[in-house]
Formats: sequence, structure tokens, C-alpha cells
Amino acid sequence: MRFLVTAGPTREALDPVRFLSNRSSGRMGYAVAEAAVRRGHAATLVSGPVSLVPPPGVRVVDVVSAEDMLAAVRREFGACEALVMAAAVADFRPVERSATKVKKSGAGLTLALERTPDILASLAPLKEGRIVVGFAAETGDPLAEARRKRRDKGADMIVANDVLAPDAGFEVETNRVTFVEENRVTALPLMSKLDVADHIVRWVEAAAQSRMSRPTP
Ligand code: CTP
Repeated sequence: MRFLVTAGPTREALDPVRFLSNRSSGRMGYAVAEAAVRRGHAATLVSGPVSLVPPPGVRVVDVVSAEDMLAAVRREFGACEALVMAAAVADFRPVERSATKVKKSGAGLTLALERTPDILASLAPLKEGRIVVGFAAETGDPLAEARRKRRDKGADMIVANDVLAPDAGFEVETNRVTFVEENRVTALPLMSKLDVADHIVRWVEAAAQSRMSRPTP
């Protein structure tokens, strides 16, 4: 299969030297691309700015902002059979981007922010037979939110995790996730991000297989 995987944070520029971003390291998405290639698939990684070395055999498309990521994913989506949206896309960006460095004047500064495009949700109408997996990074009970996101964003499965758990989430090598499907919830034990990635790739393979073996009406 051809996997399209997104990874890392996005950066939303305020001026030529400053940006808004988040703590995503990109490890989870890079691990999914690596696991896909290890299992004999092709993988394209649309990556926000991270300090990781791309896994061997993976094609990397570098992006910076949510808008760039949307354009790259839309360009690549037609040529994939599965999308795994592991990127931590910034939800807001400055309304205005100054062409010159913003100078400090006065005691404070109020930033006006606007929503970035929701990449996953925007692909729902173009999905056709593709398998689409999203993530839900939560700081409370991840299940309810994961269910809502799966439905609202048109994903087949959401990988939910509590990013405040000490051995899960940002900047660590391990993760403890739950797969949330329409009619099934599967909690996986604590494992390395590469093992989580392997489970995700196998889940996609099984979903594709069951689609192919479904009798045509
Ligand atoms: N996502 C996306 N585009 C965005 C924001 C998120 O495609 N602008 C994707 C993420 O890559 C992930 C899923 O949507 O696969 C859920 O992301 P998450 O940050 O958990 O949720 P949000 O949609 O940002 O919702 P909330 O802020 O309410 O948690």
C-alpha cells in the first residue's frame, strides 16, 4: 500500500523571527512511516519542522505552516491508499504576519489569532476508498473526545492518548494509546512509539483487507 503520513508540529509566523507552535517532536509520525516501510509499503511523510533523521526509504515533503501542510497533503492524497494524520497541526495562527520584526512599544501586546484549516476534516469528502487514521492528543479523558473527533472528521479510526501521562505524549520514546473505531475500542499497553506505529500499520492493513473482501452489492 502507499501510506501518506503527517508528522511534527506546524509553525505559524508572527513576523520573520517569531512563530507560534507546540511541543510535538514528530517521533510518532516518523515511526509510522518507518513501520510502514518495514512492512513493505511505500511511505511519504509530510513533516513539519523537527530535528529527526528521516527513516530510510521514506520520501519526505517538508512543510512549515498548517496552510503548507494542507497544500502538501491535498497534493499527495490522491496517490495514497492510507492517510495517517499524526501531525500536531497548530489550531490558530496570527491574523496578521508582519513583514518586519515586531518592535516592543507600550507595556504589552495583544495578538489576534484565527483558526487554521482542519486538514483531516477537509479531506473527508475526498476520501473514497482510502483508510484514514487520525490522532487525538488529550489532557483529560481521551475517549469521549476521540469518539467525537472520529465522527466529526470522518476518520476510520482515531488513536487516542493522554499527553499528560508521564510515559506518553510529547518528547518521550513510549506511548500508551487506545484505538477508537466506530464499534470497537481497543486499549493497547505501554510500548515504544515504533511498536505503536507497527500496530497502526497492521490495523490499516486489516482494514484494507476487510474492505477488499466485502461482497459487492
Ligand atoms: N488536525 C488537522 N488539522 C487541524 C487540527 C488537527 O488535520 N487544524 C488533525 C490532527 O492531525 C489529528 C486530529 O486532527 O489527527 C485531531 O487533532 P487534535 O489536535 O487532537 O484535535 P483538534 O482538532 O485540534 O481539536 P481540539 O483542539 O478540540 O482538541
